Amino acid sequence: MTLAETDAAVKAYFSKLEPATKKTLLHDTTGPEAGADVGIIAAVIPDPNHPEFSVYWLRDACLVYHPWLNELTVLGDSSLRPQLDDVVHALTRTQQVVSLAGNVFTGGIDEAVFGVKLQKILDVKTRIGSPAADGPPFRVDNLIKFAEWLLKPEQKNGTWVADVLWPVINLDLQWISSHWNQSSWDLWWPPVWGGSYWTASLQYRALRGGARLGRAIGRDNNVAEYDAHAAMVLDYMQTFWNEKEEFMTETTVTDVKKGRSGYGSAPLTVSVYNFDPSLGCDDATFQPCSPRALSSLKVVGDRFKAFFPISQNFTDKQPPYYGFFTEDEFIGGHPQFFASFNSAEQLYDALITWDKIGHIEVTPVSLKFWKQFDSRVSVMRYRKGSDGYKVLTEYARNWANKIVLQLEKGTPSDYVLVECVDKNTGGPYGPRGMIRSLAAALGVIDAYHGLVPPNWGHPIPGSKVSPNEIPAARPPRVAQSDSCHSSQDVYRQQSQKLHGYRYSQGGF
Ligand SMILES: *[C@@H]1O[C@H](CO)[C@@H](O)[C@H](O)[C@H]1NC(C)=O
Ligand SMILES: *[C@@H]1O[C@H](CO)[C@@H](O)[C@H](O)[C@H]1NC(C)=O
Ligand SMILES: *[C@@H]1O[C@H](CO)[C@@H](O)[C@H](O)[C@H]1NC(C)=O
Repeated sequence: MTLAETDAAVKAYFSKLEPATKKTLLHDTTGPEAGADVGIIAAVIPDPNHPEFSVYWLRDACLVYHPWLNELTVLGDSSLRPQLDDVVHALTRTQQVVSLAGNVFTGGIDEAVFGVKLQKILDVKTRIGSPAADGPPFRVDNLIKFAEWLLKPEQKNGTWVADVLWPVINLDLQWISSHWNQSSWDLWWPPVWGGSYWTASLQYRALRGGARLGRAIGRDNNVAEYDAHAAMVLDYMQTFWNEKEEFMTETTVTDVKKGRSGYGSAPLTVSVYNFDPSLGCDDATFQPCSPRALSSLKVVGDRFKAFFPISQNFTDKQPPYYGFFTEDEFIGGHPQFFASFNSAEQLYDALITWDKIGHIEVTPVSLKFWKQFDSRVSVMRYRKGSDGYKVLTEYARNWANKIVLQLEKGTPSDYVLVECVDKNTGGPYGPRGMIRSLAAALGVIDAYHGLVPPNWGHPIPGSKVSPNEIPAARPPRVAQSDSCHSSQDVYRQQSQKLHGYRYSQGGF
């Protein structure tokens, strides 16, 4: 199919998928209509046959809150404001639930799963993977995004942010700041206990964004500590890069005997979640167009291609399906709508950044990604306006379109997505209305339409102050310990080599 043909087909598919997805999320999975408290989203359309899924997974709900917040704060769709007020209230309540993980002071803040009325869950099987350290940063990332929007001149709601929201935000930030280096369950089934790239990435964003917000509203008692710990987390994130095979490992557990090789889709999700075109193709934050993220997409994709029966005989022209990780056996180990949509979203996001910065830099690391389309691509800069740039962007766009169209084949006829694509037949498989799939659908549709999220706090290269700086924010200042300093210097040198630019002094 030509690009024009795949573009038309994707547009037609999205025009059906988008309304069905939005309706399912708002009316069938969320709040009283779904038998839940306001602001609470069940992980699937509540189903007596799947009681284990009919619960409030904080992580999955946050995946939905993220595009909802984009629609309010970036696209200006104020119809979601009442809904998001409920969401903020629900998130605030989650901190205080006394669960098997403890109370707010003893670990309850890490609880990952609740009943849909926010009651504690006692069933051990339902609670597999809880507590999880990604809860506080994912919750607070959403709250910070809402807070930054409320500070805008059009909202002028700084008093409420400082008096009501900041104590809630700061509770999570303090927890993250003092616990970021502890092992935790990761996000898949069965979860492994260790360090997780996904969790570290969310923690980094939370600490950076939190420090910036605290400064903006004059609550800056702890912000130097948050910035200092953020620098360490960013350092730690780089240790997940597999230098030899050139992909981002998802966990520190890389032992197949323990059920994990380290190849999985969590870093892919990080790349689209932390998409920020003001950071260019930055490797350190794993931007969608970064050489590392493109290489990882290819290397991990090849693994998934070989893992799922349906794709084992695919030609080079057919994109892979992505799943959880390449040892997955959960409900049979199938490709996920979630991860596969993310893989298309990564490329739509990348196209936005290339267009903004005006070139594609093919590096020795990203070369393998490009060579799959055309063996003539070489290590060089392809400038916007040149034939080479046009050809490369068309390859990337067409590849993303093909991923989407492959998923269309697995979409139920009513467009209400399920969890998986059957690994043998390519048809729909798993529980109906899985919100993780629905959130990813909203994400890829937004990216396809060119949604540009604001900078979330990582310092913008070459500029001391962020252009999206929230009112009264000052340039980051950092108090660091010596040990942190030295590893940071190594990392700075490394990133200078990688990017050819200098981080502004004190930017970490
Ligand atoms: C500030 O925002 C909160 C949360 O949406 C809202 O409840 C409150 O009424 C707002 N206050 C003002 C002055 O707009
Ligand atoms: C804590 O930090 C050290 C040093 O960066 C790292 O080696 C270790 O894996 C980290 N542990 C966790 C669980 O994050
Ligand atoms: C892939 O091709 C091989 C060899 O032709 C064949 O034996 C196998 O059944 C095929 N697998 C699928 C899933 O079609």
